[in-house]
Formats: sequence, structure tokens, C-alpha cells
Amino acid sequence: MNISIFGLGYVGCVGAACLAKLGHHVIGVNHTQGKVDLINAGKPTIIEADIEELVKEAHERGMLEATTDYRYAVKNTDVSFICVGTPSSKDGHLNLDYIYRVARQIGEGIREKDSFHIVAIRSTVLPGTNQKVGEIITEASGKERNVDFTVVSNPEFLREGTSVQDYMHPPITLIGTDSEKAEAVFREIYKDIPAEFVCTDIRVAEIMKYVNNTFHALKIVFGNEVGNICKQLDIDSHKVMEIFCKDKQLNISPYYFKPGFAYGGSCLPKDSKALRTLAHDLYVDVPVINSIDQSNEIQKRTAVEIIESKGRRNVGILGLSFKAGTDDLRNSPIVDVIEVLYGKGYSMRIYDRNVRLSQLTGTNADFIQAKLPHLHQIISDDLDAVCMASDVLVITNKEKEYADLPARYPDKCIVDLVRQFNELDYEGNYEGISWANINCNPAQDKPIERDMVTTEY
Ligand SMILES: NC(=O)c1ccc[n+]([C@@H]2O[C@H](COP(=O)([O-])OP(=O)(O)OC[C@H]3O[C@@H](n4cnc5c(N)ncnc54)[C@H](O)[C@@H]3O)[C@@H](O)[C@H]2O)c1
Repeated sequence: MNISIFGLGYVGCVGAACLAKLGHHVIGVNHTQGKVDLINAGKPTIIEADIEELVKEAHERGMLEATTDYRYAVKNTDVSFICVGTPSSKDGHLNLDYIYRVARQIGEGIREKDSFHIVAIRSTVLPGTNQKVGEIITEASGKERNVDFTVVSNPEFLREGTSVQDYMHPPITLIGTDSEKAEAVFREIYKDIPAEFVCTDIRVAEIMKYVNNTFHALKIVFGNEVGNICKQLDIDSHKVMEIFCKDKQLNISPYYFKPGFAYGGSCLPKDSKALRTLAHDLYVDVPVINSIDQSNEIQKRTAVEIIESKGRRNVGILGLSFKAGTDDLRNSPIVDVIEVLYGKGYSMRIYDRNVRLSQLTGTNADFIQAKLPHLHQIISDDLDAVCMASDVLVITNKEKEYADLPARYPDKCIVDLVRQFNELDYEGNYEGISWANINCNPAQDKPIERDMVTTEY
């Protein structure tokens, strides 16, 4: 494959050398002559392990050259990677000036070409940039997106210091595209990279890098806060976190990563509060651990706001316990939502076939007596009776018996807190608490059919 790389800094230099190693012919482009001269002398523009030999070897084999002439680079390649910097502006926003300048230059190059050209954004950019880059290229080239060219999002996951190793062995290869042609080309480009090839929607790919890096930052801060608490208790924090990491079922695993409703039950609220209070008593500042409960409360408020936004007063709650298959109501987050709506004068009906009020005992009975003393008047084990009497149906547990509710009750609003449904039209009567339907994504009006979720989590 003939590939041009715009921006010969860390990401561009490593990408150029590694793509040449993978058998592609690469033309590097940089607006400063110095970096171009280095590559053309067989030398890297950065200092990194293994990069010197890779650039030297690629240059000697005639697989790597560099230029400041962007038109020449576009004309002589099929794919252009954008690897220019995306610094923060003074007010903290991302400065995309370099990206847009390169997009214009590539557009000018495409104007002079007859064959289909693929542009891949490798730099770290916010969702929406792919669409904007496409618009700039359309304007500069006078050509049509997905007819004459396309723009793919292909975020870079390398870390400085181990960049060549990371490039050749990434955790995944990620492509966001609405072009089947581009997907096929990228499968070919990366065919020798030993990583799962994930092809997804453009905006999903665009946000991934930010989600990954923010989670990595969260891991570091969480480990440090745990360490600071342990230190005050003369506990070896490294032993604690080592054992923590051995639990691959619940701790280091896909479990608990589904966007949805607030957590509840008898353990998570109680135990996270206990750790928070312990830190407070030890005078250890733990802002991340402290904010967990606040975030959980916000999710309950979000559920209330979504239900209120439907503008209908008869609300049916499908599932009262904190998770499916139990009658444990202690700290069930939906109970707080019901309490708030009841206080605002909403007419509430509740369906839960696991909850038998007469059989509730101990703290379970005490909790519900304190929160919803009138529960016996509004709870039912008749799903249809609750649905018929309600205008808004709030699904709080995943149950097979809810699967055909949209078909059976098309005039009801459905508020989904657990992703019971995937593909309902967002414009209609359905709203998920923490996800948008792909059909409402203006950047991708014809998404390629793909499996939604293959990972069990
Ligand atoms: N460095 C990393 O570890 C890393 C890892 C993953 C992703 N990223 C992302 O990749 C992007 C690039 O990062 P970097 O560290 O390689 O930046 P960098 O500053 O090292 O390199 C950017 C290069 O682009 C060149 N450039 C600017 N405008 C140009 C133009 N119009 N034409 C041609 N070249 C131009 C600059 O001269 C420079 O050589 C950023 O968005 C960054 O966030 C970086």
C-alpha cells in the first residue's frame, strides 16, 4: 500500500517507520524542512527505543521518504494519515488548527487526483472532528465524501518510551468508518499486527482515546488514594493492590462497566461510605473516593429528570428491587426516584413479581416502611395492569417479559435504565438513561450493520 503521513513528530515518525516495516511504501510530510531532511538521511525525528534501526532500514530499502510537498504526497499515495499535534489552547480547549490546516492541504491534493483517497485521523481529537475534516476536504477538493474520498478515525494508543513496541503490539486496532471500502483497506494495512481488529462507528472511535486515558488516570488516582489510607493504618498498600488485581472476575474485568442506572443494594453504598468515613477520620484527603456517592446520586436525579421530561403524570415502574431476581429493596436506587416523583404529585404504579410485601422482614421491611409506607397501594404482580394504567414505563431490571413491551404498548413512553432495548428509534417513545441511539447520530446517517456488543460484561 502507498501511504502518506502528515506530521513527523512522535506519532508520525513511529507510524512511518512501522508501516514501512509492515511492507508499505511511506511518504512522510512535515511543514518544517529539518524533520524532512532527517528522514531523507535515514534518521528518525525523535529519540525512542528501536526507532533508529527501523528508519535507517526503511530508508535503505527505499520504503520511506519525506517531503514538504503535500500535493506530491497525496498524489502518490492511497491513504493519508493525519498525525499532527493537537495542543491545548489557553482556555483548556483542544486546538485543532493544525488538523484543519492539514485537512485543507490534503483536500487540495485530492482535487488533483482521480482515484479514491482515504484520510485517517491518527491524532487524538474530540468527537465531531472527523465530520469537520470531511467538510474541509470536500470544500478544498470539490469532491464528494464516500464517492471520491473518505475520512476514517484510527486513534493511536502508543506510549512514549515504548512506542515501537506499542505500535506493533497494540491492545486493539480500532477503526471508525462509514465506508466498507475503507474498512477493507485498513484490514489489509494492519493484517500483520497481532491485535483484534475492531471496526466501529466514527464517533465511537473518536471518543475512545479520551475514555481510555481518563480511565487510566482514574486508576492511578484510585490506587494512590487507597495507598494513602493504607499508609495511615500501617497496611502495605502494594500488597493490597496486588491482591486487588488478582480478582479478574469483578475487579480487573469487564464487569460493572455498563452505562445504566445508579448502584444500590446492601453492600456498595454501605462499604464505600465506610471507607470514605475512615479516610475522613484519618485526615486523609480522598476526593475521588468521596465523589463516588455524589456521582451515584446524580444518576438518580438524571432518571427523575428524564421521566419528568416526558410530560406525562402516570408512571409505571417495572422492577422495584435493586437487581433482577431478588426481593432485596434495601438501598434500591429506584425507591429514591419513586419517593421524589411521588412527592411531586406523580401517580405511580409498580410492578415487581419478586416482592411480596407480606413476606418482607427485618431491615428490608424497615427500609421500605420508612421510604414508601403506602407501597401496598401501588405495587402489583400484574404487568399488563401496570402498563395499561401508565403513560411512562420505567424499566429498572432486565427481564425477558419486557422484550415485547414496545410492540404491545406502542403509545407508551419507555424510559430504559438497563439497556433492555438497543435499536428502538430515539425519535419515538424510547429513551435510555445513558446512551443515545445510533439512528440519531447526524455524522453517520447510514451506519454499517455491525454486531452491537460481542464482549460479555
Ligand atoms: N506522543 C504520544 O505519545 C501520543 C500517543 C498517542 C496519540 N498522540 C496524539 O497524536 C498527535 C500527534 O502527537 P505527537 O506527539 O506526534 O506530536 P508532535 O508535536 O511530536 O508532532 C507533530 C508534528 O506535526 C508537524 N506538523 C504540524 N503542522 C503540520 C502541517 N501542516 N503539515 C505537516 N506537518 C505538520 C509538526 O512539525 C510536528 O513534527 C496528537 O494529537 C497527540 O495527542 C500522541
